[in-house]
Amino acid sequence: MKNTPNQINNQLFNMLLRGIALLFAVLLALNVTAQDRLNAGSERTRDNFDFNWQFHKGDIAIKRAVKAAGYGGLTDINVKVETNKEAIVAYTDVDKAATFKPEDWREVNLPHDWCVEGTFVNDKSIGSSPAVSGYLPGGIGFYRKEFEIPEADKGKKITIEFDGIFRNSTIWVNGQLLGTHQSGYTPSNYDLTDVLRYGNEGKNVVLVKVDATEYEGWWYEGCGIYRHVWLNKTDKLHVDRFGTYVTTSLARPDQADVNVKTNIKNEYGVVKNITLVSKIVDNKGVVLDTKTSSQIIEPFSTTELSQKGSIQKPLLWTPETPNLYRVLTEVSENGIIVDNYETTFGVRTIEINRKGVFLNGKLYPVKGTCNHQDFAGIGVALPDKINEYKLKLLKEMGSNAYRCSHHPPTPELLDMCDRMGLLVLDENRMLSSSEEGIKDLKAMLYRDRNHPSIFMWSMENEEWIQGTVTGARILKTLVDITHKIDPTRPVTAAMNHGRNEGGYSDVLDVVGYNYGDKGLAYVKDHEKYPNRIEFCTEATSFISTRGEYQNDWGKGYVSNLGLWQPNWGPLPGEDWADIVKYPYLGGLFVWTGFDYRGEPTPYQWPCVTSHFGFMDICGFPKDGYYAYKAAWTNEPVVHIFPHWNWPGKDGDSIKVHCYTNCDEVELWLNGKSIGRQKAIPYTKLIWNLIYKPGKLEARGYKNGKLVTKDVVETTTAPAQLALKSDCRLLKADGTDVAVIQVALKDAKGRVVPTAANQVKFSIEGPGVIIGTGNGNPSSHEPDKASQRMAFNGYCLVLVQSNKQAGEIRLKAQSETLKGAEVVIKVQ
Ligand code: GAL
Repeated sequence: MKNTPNQINNQLFNMLLRGIALLFAVLLALNVTAQDRLNAGSERTRDNFDFNWQFHKGDIAIKRAVKAAGYGGLTDINVKVETNKEAIVAYTDVDKAATFKPEDWREVNLPHDWCVEGTFVNDKSIGSSPAVSGYLPGGIGFYRKEFEIPEADKGKKITIEFDGIFRNSTIWVNGQLLGTHQSGYTPSNYDLTDVLRYGNEGKNVVLVKVDATEYEGWWYEGCGIYRHVWLNKTDKLHVDRFGTYVTTSLARPDQADVNVKTNIKNEYGVVKNITLVSKIVDNKGVVLDTKTSSQIIEPFSTTELSQKGSIQKPLLWTPETPNLYRVLTEVSENGIIVDNYETTFGVRTIEINRKGVFLNGKLYPVKGTCNHQDFAGIGVALPDKINEYKLKLLKEMGSNAYRCSHHPPTPELLDMCDRMGLLVLDENRMLSSSEEGIKDLKAMLYRDRNHPSIFMWSMENEEWIQGTVTGARILKTLVDITHKIDPTRPVTAAMNHGRNEGGYSDVLDVVGYNYGDKGLAYVKDHEKYPNRIEFCTEATSFISTRGEYQNDWGKGYVSNLGLWQPNWGPLPGEDWADIVKYPYLGGLFVWTGFDYRGEPTPYQWPCVTSHFGFMDICGFPKDGYYAYKAAWTNEPVVHIFPHWNWPGKDGDSIKVHCYTNCDEVELWLNGKSIGRQKAIPYTKLIWNLIYKPGKLEARGYKNGKLVTKDVVETTTAPAQLALKSDCRLLKADGTDVAVIQVALKDAKGRVVPTAANQVKFSIEGPGVIIGTGNGNPSSHEPDKASQRMAFNGYCLVLVQSNKQAGEIRLKAQSETLKGAEVVIKVQ
């Protein structure tokens, strides 16, 4: 019997009704809200949250009315800014904005370091000390930012991630206390989902209190939200924070087995049935392998899924060939993708044993530098470009490794080391098995363990408790946790004492030697402890001030001639000779690549910056730089010093020093040979001669052939400025930076090595000057300025792009000298 069209319509209608009813039943059964459905299939976003903050320097009285407002809530009268003795109320909540006075706050973008904006002051009572702050006092500061969240985000998980705040931070959103985080070096993350206002509910405000009155180290640590901030939005079913762990093994030479562990977090109140797809892709995005798994995830729980994949004929990661792969993760539910996530990894093996460090099975001497975070002009608030610039300079010196002394670095630096090719020793800040200590260690391990650049973890540096039984117990807890979270890398501690006491060294995979105690302690111990694996975690500590050839207590300068060296370190390059002779030491990390603020050893006030760098705080090389360049590169190097501007010393005897990797070097003065010397590897050559102004030339020979030369000339007075920008094109993103070196030259275009003229900068176009520097460790000039004294011939200016395209013209002028200009395109 046939159905009439009406009957068909009725049947279709009934089917539709039944379908809708069924759908409702299913949805009800799953307890899924309308908003949840709305956002099903929305993929994650990670937005940079660095722009448009407001900053208030100084404390603000905050009383938390626990009973009145419930834990974490703030009443409208309990947050005050005391300015001009007037109480300004309730700026944590834009609803009360009538009483918020913007004039008490200034606009800033992050990363931001308020400490470097301060004035140098020699006063312990206000927290200004030589080591810790480089005589720039810390204190308390507040940041706030207003922002909107669209209605469409309702039902998503929204979190804020702070890469680093120095230090002791407290976070409120819309008047709700979200939490506190002490460490200035580990990231913190807060769930904003419940406290946000969506769409028409109003604006949001995040308030951050930063208390930098206490310190964590003995170097300049900065103050404020000095790393990036991110706003993350995901489905409530998502890959957990730092939720993947990708490891590789090379059991067969032409195939890498890839293990992918993915932690899926279900923040819905119902069971979820997910499909996980992990694709391994090469750097061009070509898919090499795909794995799929299904899994039930219980409500409010996290489940780890393991998958295995492979790469045929993998391109191995090394500093020279930093080949990278990615795992692209897709989480879906009922065929709809709810989250996607990306993990960069590399294929390489690392082994450290009694014979040395082996990368991909080959002995690989580590040529490293230790570094703190700061740079000229900007303190610790480094735009990514400056981190990249610093790494580029280190690589040019021949370095293949970076030690993050003495704490985990900003995460972008690790991405750069992966990409640019530098091995990394990632270091935990504190030797502490307290809840806080373990939380910080775990944050480092979970955040960083996918980076192929990291070859070893360091648990601590020179803690006083090294070599004690208690220290060994604490250390064991940390080492065990590290082995559990990342069984693929060895664990060390950077030790300057107690290596043979208290069972401390026995807990470590690799015993880290900070210096060889001048008596080759590491060589003696290697023989004495047949099971001990050693590595030279810190070396050298040569002190020198760029362009200075005399020690000067008054000015706070140290000679480059090695007249005065701390008793714990050798001269530049000398300890590298140990590494070459005893390859089982694995390599070393010299202290340090760059000068840094604070720790002005051997001086105190007026000296505010360290002298340990092989480059000054601006990245200008000192003489010792060439000892390492000679040792670490195959490029022929001849570098002679001092400069040749010694008025009034005509006829005096003088020593000329030379770092080289040539077989022989011949020195010439004004066309006359002073003598040819055979070079001893990693050892400085010295000639004694009588000073006469003119032209000093050193010619380097390899196998009897002239391969390179260095020329130092007596100059006339400074006559002109010259600018050299590291780039001619900036991105119009408000973050990119041009590093512009300013050289003071004589009429013939030779850099005047003693020039100290003041240089004034002016800028036109879509850019701003974010800082200046000159490498003078005793300079008390403000870094945040549009002028700078040159120091021994050079200074530096940093120019940051705005978000508009155009052309930046940076002009440099100095009273009697010919000015210079550089043009940088922004697009
Ligand atoms: C080391 C220490 C470094 C720095 C250096 C100066 O002992 O680990 O942080 O202080 O000395 O030589």
